[in-house]
Order: sequence, then C-alpha cells, then structure tokens
Amino acid sequence: MKYQIKKLNINNHSIFEENKIKGRSYFIPYTKKEELLQQNALSERFNSDLVNVLSGEWDFKYYEKISRLPSNFDTQTVNFDKIKVPSTWQRTGYQSPCYINTRYEFPMTLPNVPEEMSVGVYSKKFTVNNADSHPVITFLGVCSSLTLYVNGKYVGYSEGSHNSAEFNLDGFVSQGENELLAIVSRWCNGTYLECQDMFRENGIFRDVYITENPSTYIFDYTVKTAKKANGYALTVDVESVGVFDEATTITAELIKDGETVAKLTKAALSKTNLDFGVLDVKLWNAEAPEVYDLVISLEKDGCALEYIREGIGFKTVKIVGEKFFFNDKLIKFKGVNHHDTHETTGFVMLGEDLLKDITLMKQFNVNAVRTSHYPPDPTFIRLCDEYGLYVIDEADIETHGTQVNLDLKFTGTPNIISNDKAWLPHYKDRVSRLYNRDKNHVSITMWSLGNESGGWKNHDECYSMLKKVTDIPVHYEGAIRTPRGSYDVISEMYQYPEPMRKIGEHKNLHTYKNKPYFLCEYCHAMGVGPGSLEDYWQIIYAYDNLTGGCIWEWADHSVYDKDAKYKYTYGGDHGEKYHDDNFCVDGLFYPDRTPHTGAYEMKAVYRPVRCTLINDNKYSFRNTNAFINADNYDVKYVLLKNGTEVESGKIKLEIPAGETKEIEINHAATDKSADWHINFVYTNKNGYEIATEQITLNEVIAEPQKVSGEIKCENKKDKLAVVFNGGKAVFSNNTGELISYTSDGKEFITRGFVPNIYRAYLDNDRNIVKRWEKEGYNTVSAALRLKSFNVKDSKVEVKCEGMLKNGAKNLFESEIKYTIYPDGKIRIKAELERKGFVFGSIDIPRFGLNVHFDKSLNNVTYFGLGEKENLPDFDAQSTVGVFSAKVNDMNVDYIRPQDNGNHGRVRFAKFLDENGKGVEIRCDKKYFSFSAHNHSQQTLEKAKHLEDIKDDGIISVNIDGFMRGTGSNSCGPDVQTPYKIKFKKELEFSFWLIPVK
Ligand code: GAL
Ligand code: MG
Repeated sequence: MKYQIKKLNINNHSIFEENKIKGRSYFIPYTKKEELLQQNALSERFNSDLVNVLSGEWDFKYYEKISRLPSNFDTQTVNFDKIKVPSTWQRTGYQSPCYINTRYEFPMTLPNVPEEMSVGVYSKKFTVNNADSHPVITFLGVCSSLTLYVNGKYVGYSEGSHNSAEFNLDGFVSQGENELLAIVSRWCNGTYLECQDMFRENGIFRDVYITENPSTYIFDYTVKTAKKANGYALTVDVESVGVFDEATTITAELIKDGETVAKLTKAALSKTNLDFGVLDVKLWNAEAPEVYDLVISLEKDGCALEYIREGIGFKTVKIVGEKFFFNDKLIKFKGVNHHDTHETTGFVMLGEDLLKDITLMKQFNVNAVRTSHYPPDPTFIRLCDEYGLYVIDEADIETHGTQVNLDLKFTGTPNIISNDKAWLPHYKDRVSRLYNRDKNHVSITMWSLGNESGGWKNHDECYSMLKKVTDIPVHYEGAIRTPRGSYDVISEMYQYPEPMRKIGEHKNLHTYKNKPYFLCEYCHAMGVGPGSLEDYWQIIYAYDNLTGGCIWEWADHSVYDKDAKYKYTYGGDHGEKYHDDNFCVDGLFYPDRTPHTGAYEMKAVYRPVRCTLINDNKYSFRNTNAFINADNYDVKYVLLKNGTEVESGKIKLEIPAGETKEIEINHAATDKSADWHINFVYTNKNGYEIATEQITLNEVIAEPQKVSGEIKCENKKDKLAVVFNGGKAVFSNNTGELISYTSDGKEFITRGFVPNIYRAYLDNDRNIVKRWEKEGYNTVSAALRLKSFNVKDSKVEVKCEGMLKNGAKNLFESEIKYTIYPDGKIRIKAELERKGFVFGSIDIPRFGLNVHFDKSLNNVTYFGLGEKENLPDFDAQSTVGVFSAKVNDMNVDYIRPQDNGNHGRVRFAKFLDENGKGVEIRCDKKYFSFSAHNHSQQTLEKAKHLEDIKDDGIISVNIDGFMRGTGSNSCGPDVQTPYKIKFKKELEFSFWLIPVK
C-alpha cells in the first residue's frame, strides 16, 4: 500500500496531538458477561471478542536519519525487518542503549529538537471482523511521537510517551484485512518534558489494540463515591456514543465475591447518571483491599451489546490541617518509587512483570508506590487496587535537562519550560490524560504533577484543573523550590532525618507548616544501603504530620546480556558519549528482582508490628497498621542464649490498628552471665514470614580463659619465634609482621595483620571518596617495624609500630601490640594515631586490621549480626545469632563492585578447615566487625563490573574495630553522626586470636 508521508509534527510546538480521542478511562469491553467475569487484571485485555490486541510480530523499517525517510512510502516495496511489539529500539539492536540522568541527549534549542534523528516505521496488517463496528485503536505507550496512517490515509498524531493514544478508525477501515503504518520518532517537542532519569528508549513499548465497538457503545464512565452518615453514596456517570432510542438502556451492577450488591438500569443517553443512593459497603485500604466489581452494560431491546468491568472501592482521602487521613485513619506511606524497567526489554513490562513487582512489594511490607515518573501500564494500577497499595500516580512531565547543560554546567534556566505559557497545553494534556485514564481507581491516593520540572506556573494551572474534578490530594515536589512552596502536601526529596524531626516539632521554617509532610524520595538505595532507614521511621512514627515516603528506587536499571563479557551494563558501557555511569543501578532489587540487602532492610523497617522490652518478661507490641488487627499475624518467639535457640513458643497478638499492648511471655529467666536475645517471627496466615524482630535482653563480653604454662622466645636473625604449647607465632624482626602462626602443625596465616583504614568505596561514599583520595587513604601503605618484645609473667609481648604512608607522606602513626599466652592465644591491640599537632577531627571509612588466612580455612562460623550483611546504620535486616558460611558465599555481588559482606556486633568468628582446625577471632572489651573474601580490597576497588573481580587465591579477612555506616549520600544525606568514625587524635581496639583444635 502507498502512503504519502506528510511533514511530521515533531517540531511543531503547537501540535502535540491531532485527531486523538480525548482522555478517558481504560477498560476492555466484552460481549459476554460470563467471559468478562472469568478474566483477571492480566488476562482481560487479551481475551475479549471485541478487542484485538495487535502485539506480536510487526514489519519494521529503521532509518538512522529521518532525512532518509521517503515521502512516498510503499509497504509493498520496502524491505521490512520483523520486530516484536511491544519493544524498544535500544533493546532490539537498532540503537545502542543510552543511560543519562539529568540531561537531554542534545543541546537545548527550545522548543525544537534536532532536525536530524532516527525514526522507525512500523506496519501491521489487522482484521476487522464486523463491518458495522466503530473501531478505535489504542496505543498504551509510544516514545516519543506517533504518526498514524491506516490503509494509505493519515489518521493522526500523538505525543506524551506514557499516556494512551487513541484514534477513531471510523471511515478508515473496512471488513477484512487492513493495514496500519505507525511512524515513531526518536524525539519531538514533547521530549523536553520527558527528561527522566533512566535509559532513554524509543519505540512502541506497550500494547496496541483495536476495539470493535458496537453501533452504540460506552465511551467513558466516572465513578464517584461519597461518605454519608449511614454508608457510602455511589454514582456512576456513563458517557456513550451512538444512537439512543427508548430501547437503549444502561445497567450498572455492583458485585462483591460473586454476589450482586446493587443493580440499576436506566434509559441510555449520551450522558447517563446512575445513582445508587447510599450503600452499606466495606471500605478499601491497602491493608485489606476490599474491591467490588462494577459491571456496566449497554443494552438494546433488552440484549446487551457490551459489558465493561472495573474493580472499584470506597474511600475518602482527606487532609485536615497537617494530617493525612485515608478513610478517617492517619496513614503512613511505607513507599517505594517504581520505574518501568526490565533487564532485557527495558521500558517494556508485561502484565506478569508488573504482577511480580506488586507481589514483591506486598511481600516486603510496602504499602505505597509512586509511579515515578509517568503513568504505568493501566494494568499496574488495577493490580494496586486488587493487592492493596496506595498509589501516587505521576504525570509524564520532567524537564530536568533545563537545569544542566550537556557539559553538566547549571544553565540558570530551570523554570524555562514550566513558567512558559506556550507549554501549558502540553502540561494540561499530560495531566488530564493521566487523570482521565486512572480516575476510577480506588488505589489512587495522590495525583502527582510530574517530577523535577522547576516551577511552577504551568503546574499551578494543572493543579486548578485537577481540583475542579477530583478530591484526591495533588502532589508536586518541585513546588518546594518556588514561591508556592507546596500543593496539597509538603513534598521533599532526600531530606535529612534531623531536620525532619524539627518539621515534626514545628520548629522549622514556615514552609513546613500546616500541611502533611511527604518524602516523595528518600533513602537512595544505590549500592550497599540505604543507611538510616530505621532512623527515619523512628521520627516518622513520632509525629502525625510526617506521612512517610517512598524509597528511591524499586529496581536497578541495567541492560542484561547473558552472552556478553559484562552481563549487566550501565551508563558508558554502550559507547555513550554523554552518560551518568552506574547512577541508574540504584534499586532495592537487582534488575531480575532478586532482592538486594536493602530490600531486606526495608522489609524489616516497614514491618507492621514493633516490639519493645519493658522489663524481664514484659514486652510492649505496637500495631503500626492503620486498619487491621495484629491478630492477622501468627507470632513465634525464639529465645536465644549465646546466639543459639534454647526455647520457643507462640504468642497471640490481639491489638487493634494503631494501638499498643503489653504482653508477658513466660520464657526462661535470662541470667546475667550469658548473651540473651529474643526473636519475634511474624508470619501471615499463609505461613509467609513478614518480619523477624530481635530484642536484646542481655549482653556480656567474657574474657577468654587463659591456661598457664610455658612460653619462650627464639630470636634468630630476621625472625622472632614465640614458642607456646603446641605451636608458635613467628614475627619478622624487621616489619614486625606476624608471618606465621601455627598450632598442631597447621599454618593459619599467609600474610600477617596490616592496619587498614580504607574500603573499596561504596556508592554512598561517592562524594566523600574524593576527600579520602585527596588524603591518600585509598593508596595508603603500612610501614611498621618491630619495636620491642619481652617475656614477663608467662606471656610474651611483641610491639610493632610505624607509619601509614601515602607515598612519602606520613598519614598516621600505628601500633600493633601482640600479647601471646602459653596456650597460643594472642591478644592483639591496634592503635591509629594522627601525627603531631592535629586540627579538627577527621572522618575515615574504617579502622581495623587485615589478615590473610590459609586457603584451607574456608569455613566460617560467627556469632554476631547476620546472616545478611550489615553496617552500623544498616542493620535492620540482620539479627544477632550464630551463623555459618563458606568464605566465597560471604560476597554480596553488586553490579558495580564495592566493599560488601560486612558483619557487625561480632563476638567471635571462627575460620576452620575441613577437619575443624583453624583460628578463632574473639572480641575483647567491645564487639568487632568482619568481612572475608577471596580477593583483596584493591581487586574490588578496581573492578567496574562483577566479572572484573578475580579470585586472588587468598582468604582476606578484615577485622574492624571501627566501621563507617553507609547513609545514602549517593543522592541523599551522608552518614548520620553516630555512625561516622570521627576522631581527633586516636583510635584503638583489641581482639583475641585463638587456635582452634
Ligand atoms: C531524584 C530524581 C530521580 C532520580 C534520583 C536519583 O532527584 O527525582 O528521578 O534521578 O534523584 O537516583
Ligand atoms: Mg531527574
């Protein structure tokens, strides 16, 4: 078929749509009610006899340059490729992936985008079954613009990648085979509104379908519910198209669990109002999502032409002063930010992918999701209704690139688009289409006017527009940096915990008064972390005006290729000239949705029940839910003595939402001579573990027993051997290094203890690491010497001291003191001291000793925080206990490698061979932290990808007396003060090394 391609509208600023159907709700009509009712949120789109989903194999022609796109296009003669729809060019090999965050991919020349760009022509043959039908074609997502032709004729144009684009095909098609041609451009004016932090992708990335509407059909409907003294009023406004006569009726039926609750029939007009009056209904909330089926049908002469169905619910969202109420209850958002990102298909997320995310959210105690930064596939919202998640539904607007040039310099024009009225129609289009598509969903808890677009005039207009049609609060974070300050909630991102406490206490600026406070993004989950999540929640729970927030972000963005050298790639790995490295790899979950440690931390902190110890056997339990009783969970307690279970039992929690109850548990007394902990394991009625919470009952640090006996020194040339009962410890007479440690004929050490102040920098260290590098901490080397040794009271004391140097520069003095006992135990004390006169305090990553154990000591058993890795401000995912692992299993594989696998609050860590021989590191005076790897810190620091880490043939163990937390400074706050190693003059710690026979 021949097409005369007219000039595309991609640089025609005033035309962002042509012939598009106005925004309306998403639904899939069926002719048979029974068939419709059998469908679920995932299957409904695909099984209707009125809807033909065109997804699948399409013809595709890619033009690197739009200037090469012929103006006479003949589908008969073009040499098409085959492409799968939905898909994107970057994930099908037409263009290489490009990850960039705050910048446009081209220099700003508002409102125009570069004339030359790539373009893709899609073609598909489709069948129309019913000659009398009124076909409508729907594109659920196309980036960036769509120019549609059908059977040789121009149909229309659309921008707004994540909004639905629908066109009426009346007059364009006939019964039988038809052909469509869709031209998709890489960029268009609208691209200026889509500068989101993600891989930039193009193509038809969501389903396309044709609905063969009957002669008279339902076009849209609006459900309104309103709380009344004796129940809920329900009205349904139906908008229909076609011919209405006396025999045309509309019926709306409300169904719950298969039973009809209410049913109404009315003569149909183009606008029909169905008023159910006041109903006695169950209310919806994220904890117990009560969804009703609303089935609307259109009948002629008593025969239904079509049925549509939506899961609806009853709710009132109300802000009173600074409090956020959902159905009259104060709620807290235990939220996450969710982007559409799939490891192989990128933007394309099918129903099952969305379901997987939502299932995981529920499993990880999430109750809220912000659809950052655009409307998702409508299936996602339906699943949120059904599974129970408060949705902050965001418009596809972000103009971040107006703030920074390609060379990363501030432009000085962050508001240039958002304050320009010429762009207002674009804003209104995107916001109203968001609203109209999702308006009937009970899970929508806030509308969001977009992200990072400066301010504010165009947002103001969109706000007023929404306020006329909806009671749901409106959110837009960018307002905080404008004179407007906020819309319905005060929204911020990455605020520090302490200022939030001030906001809670009303001690902060007037900006923060009189409205609920919401963190639309916080706890940047990049790499190891986020830190301080629990600190945030201590504060959030303490103040009614703090509503919680959404962690940034749900999943890592990365491109997966199982056959490539690097299986997971990020910015810069695909030859991008401008990119933002691994900043896209910042999720709570890996790209394939394997949980990161951070996800487990979130799961623990977002737990619904929280316990505190009152005294002895008395505990206080708080049900943090807003709606459901704690009796929804089964609770088991496990009493641990010295990290091992000694007793367990069940307890019954019967605590109404929001309340606290004291409970006495009749467990064994906890004498003061041992470590005692109690774990509470909460499971739901399906036996799924919701959380484990640990309470410390008693902690002791006991001195190891020392056996008396003989000990002597043999000082020969360059070696000093300390001979004890059954073995010896040999020191270099020059460097003081413990070069050998044997017992029972077994060598334990391949390289002795070396002071260590650095860590292969975490993503959250990305700012402070510049300072560390400037100081030379990353290239520090220890130059110690043996200072003295003496034998006294049946023990030998060996002292080494020297400098930690960066090249020729002395950074720190350090001393290691070994006290060796007749039974081979060694107490090791390490000191770090700043040289000479010091001014102010410094902030270092860690202080500890690194040692290499013999490769046979591969079996680790430790008593401390595990079994998930942890850091001082990142430990809710761990409990104190006794855990075992192989060294190699203690790695945590981050896509960009960084220091990992740390365990804090450790009493002992044993490294043993297959026969149970080896060494034990035991705490002295205070707990230590440790990590063990088969590679060095240097190998880890150099690696850009997992595959760069090689096995160095060692067991490298870090024993740290001091370890900095992680914070979330990859984008948010640095480590909070209590978790920093800030010191002025010196640090010291000690531990024991004990041979295990
Ligand atoms: C925020 C932004 C997000 C993301 C995040 C960093 O400022 O809204 O889209 O870029 O920072 O990962
Ligand atoms: Mg941004």
